[in-house]
Amino acid sequence: MVQNVKRTAGNTLRRVLHTTYDALDRGQRALPALVPPRQINPNIGFTPRRGDYAREFITSGDRVAAMLKTYGNLQPDQQVLDIGSGIGRIARALTTYLSKDGQYRGFDVDPRAVAWCQRSYGRLSNFLFAYAPVGYINVRGRGTIRGEDLVFPYPEATFDLAFSMSVYTHLSRATVDHYLGETSRVLRPGGMCLNTFFVMDDFAVEAMQSGRADRRYVRQGDGVYVADLDNPNFGIGFTPDVINTFHESHGLTIVPPIRFGGWTGRKLESFVYQDVVVARKGTASTEPSAPAEERR
Ligand SMILES: C[S@@+](CC[C@H](N)C(=O)[O-])C[C@H]1O[C@@H](n2cnc3c(N)ncnc32)[C@H](O)[C@@H]1O
Repeated sequence: MVQNVKRTAGNTLRRVLHTTYDALDRGQRALPALVPPRQINPNIGFTPRRGDYAREFITSGDRVAAMLKTYGNLQPDQQVLDIGSGIGRIARALTTYLSKDGQYRGFDVDPRAVAWCQRSYGRLSNFLFAYAPVGYINVRGRGTIRGEDLVFPYPEATFDLAFSMSVYTHLSRATVDHYLGETSRVLRPGGMCLNTFFVMDDFAVEAMQSGRADRRYVRQGDGVYVADLDNPNFGIGFTPDVINTFHESHGLTIVPPIRFGGWTGRKLESFVYQDVVVARKGTASTEPSAPAEERR
């Protein structure tokens, strides 16, 4: 109750500050292309130095793009899916990497974010955004279907790489499980997926208990930890067993190691704050086989 009141007050203050800074940026034409106004993004915090907002938006998106190249071997002419594409943070970074043969598709449950991306990327015909009508904490009352019932709006075997950043850290176990099934369906054999999680391994649980981690989630059930038992979508993490099962049961093979982020206090050179799980569709034995003469 008290937590909810504090959260509402914080959100109201943030909205006022964001509206003011957006107006100043608009007046001075201070936002670079494809950087959205702050009001479109319900997730970002307030940055007191005005210029820091665009800088952070751009550099953090560039970092994720670098990670997709490094861990996912993303090539300029490939087909890539951004699950929970938000306000185009990663799409923007990929506009300078994908060639005209490369295709980017993103979908999100936030109609304002999707509409902004559709308008802003209108000139780039290989960047398309879709709205998925799923209910979510930040867009109350809009969605009509449950995450675990969503069929990704793409045919099977479409993509070389599918990724989600900071999405499976908010969705229920049933939805994440279903989304990995859909990811497997739309990936080509041998295609890669990269998703961020809060991985609740022994190190993370101990770091949360001792206060060394940035967050302290509580156990909700078998293999599942949440930030707030009343509002599990605010933040959720899964044990390695659960994450393995999500992948294995949909024909996705995790490519070790898990790339841990810094949220637990681990001192690492990581691309992002959350933990990154990389997987390939199929197993070693289902990878494309060598031509017959090479096999002899
Ligand atoms: C923390 S934001 C991250 C946005 C983007 N991936 C990024 O890294 O900039 C989480 C995003 O997930 C989206 N989202 C929430 N529930 C979703 C769902 N069931 N399916 C797809 N996206 C969802 C939200 O609308 C939001 O854009």
